[in-house]
Amino acid sequence: MSFSVPANLETEIDEVLTHYPEKRAASLMVLHAIQDQFGWISPEAVEWTANKLGLQPINIYELVTFYPMFRQEPVGKYQIKVCRTLSCALGGAYELHKHFCEKLGLDAHAHGPQTAKDGKFTVEFVECLASCGTAPVMMCNDDFYEGVSNAKADEICAKCK
Ligand code: FES
Repeated sequence: MSFSVPANLETEIDEVLTHYPEKRAASLMVLHAIQDQFGWISPEAVEWTANKLGLQPINIYELVTFYPMFRQEPVGKYQIKVCRTLSCALGGAYELHKHFCEKLGLDAHAHGPQTAKDGKFTVEFVECLASCGTAPVMMCNDDFYEGVSNAKADEICAKCK
């Protein structure tokens, strides 16, 4: 297994483990830390995590495949998440998603996250982001945007260096 984590991350993970009565209970925290570092959870990262926690890889795979926030493929530097639940769907989420896809050379009808060829942006639909009254809403990495028009979407992209 060629996967390794930076020493500072391993120190951080070791510290996290001290907060739990069993290593296994820290699985989600460890996966979040790894995804924050690498952007996704690779098969090698699954094995590393299982080994670190004294578990079998299947115990980690079942978490990575169950929770939609964990990514099993590399993503772009900027992750655009467009809410498509009812209020946002009615408020123009599909048009907004299509606008991003056309702008970035992606297929608006493809299933799942799509990453632009230059690796800068990943675009995907997500479910309710809990701001239904300000539809359509979206996130770009950790930044949240409400009432997003196509013009605002262009501004958001332009801010991403
Ligand atoms: S439906 Fe989009 S935030 Fe709730």
